Amino acid sequence: MVSRELGHGIFWVGALDFDRRIFDELIPLPEGTSYNAYLIRGSEKTALIDTVDPTKEFDLVSNLVKMGTDRIDYIVINHAEQDHSGSLPMILEFYPDAVVVTNEKCRDLLIALLQLPRERFRVIHDQETLSLGDRTLQFFLTPWTHWPETQLTYLVEDKILFPCDLFGFHAASSDLFLQDEAAAYRSAKRYYAEIMMPFRGSIKGYVEKVKALQPSMIAPSHGPVHQRPAFILDAYAEWTSDVVKNEVVIPYISMHGSTLKMVEHLTDALIARGIMVKPFNLTRTDIGELALALVDTATIVIATPTVLFGPHPQIVYVTYLANALRPKVRFASVIGSYGWGGKSADVITKMLDHVKVELIPPVIIKGVPDEAAMQALDRLAEDIVKKHKEINLMS
Ligand code: FEO
Repeated sequence: MVSRELGHGIFWVGALDFDRRIFDELIPLPEGTSYNAYLIRGSEKTALIDTVDPTKEFDLVSNLVKMGTDRIDYIVINHAEQDHSGSLPMILEFYPDAVVVTNEKCRDLLIALLQLPRERFRVIHDQETLSLGDRTLQFFLTPWTHWPETQLTYLVEDKILFPCDLFGFHAASSDLFLQDEAAAYRSAKRYYAEIMMPFRGSIKGYVEKVKALQPSMIAPSHGPVHQRPAFILDAYAEWTSDVVKNEVVIPYISMHGSTLKMVEHLTDALIARGIMVKPFNLTRTDIGELALALVDTATIVIATPTVLFGPHPQIVYVTYLANALRPKVRFASVIGSYGWGGKSADVITKMLDHVKVELIPPVIIKGVPDEAAMQALDRLAEDIVKKHKEINLMS
């Protein structure tokens, strides 16, 4: 790896991970990722903002050594998750006088996760500042910009925000700065869905706080640096708003074709009524793509066959995930087929206790869908149209 300069005396010293394909053993990474760490040289003190994933700790050390960094005074840790803090033990060995600067909750987690000595820490509070001489760091505690201990660091004079996970996205881009906003929009939205969406209420407030700072640059810990902060701030304002799209997402599984026929019929019925439809066959779906679709859809219709007496296990998994991600979806329904009885609709709707949805009556049929089943699906499409007309839709 090579270090790169964001501004005079401010350097990217992180690592690109082109090969990584899964994060937290859950989130697919089609574009790899990066672990961005930043070195800031003030007239009196030098600070490192975050470290890198432990698998890349030699990249970080090598960047620092090649730059002739013989002293680090402060290591600011914005977030205790290992992809940002995992190299801290090695960096503390290399720089024995360095002090770890973070909030109390993050310190306690770092001690628990990395077994670091308490005396290496300096605890900061919300909005506290730390002088580097001619430069000042200011810290803002922002719980749930992934974990409860997360914080943002602001380089006051240069107006550069280091928000760690917030405003980033997973991509191993060799461009230091974001070049193609149109292409990045989708990646950033997917990342928002996977990491930030469960905390939409809090994130919405943080976006306003960051806008008030009027940063000249946003340097997150994953993906390229934003030289035009308005791009990512406006995108976050849109995603965290209460407005939804005139759209229906249909995650489905079909074992013998009956549920598929129902999905196809409902899809056509909705399209004919002017509603966008996104069906996802869960045997082939990249779970990140489904999460992305859930960011602003008005309705989710879960389509399942019956396995024994309940929904297909893959449907249970996706329903659990959708519930945990807490999208702003407004309506939900269930469709599907059974052979000898079942409680699929009950099981699925009870699982959706974290999303504030209005349930539209399900269409659950025995065996292969007949004319009556198709008419029931047409009525479901009509119900969805009516419900969408009652709410504030994205124009
Ligand atoms: Fe990039 Fe929450 O770790």
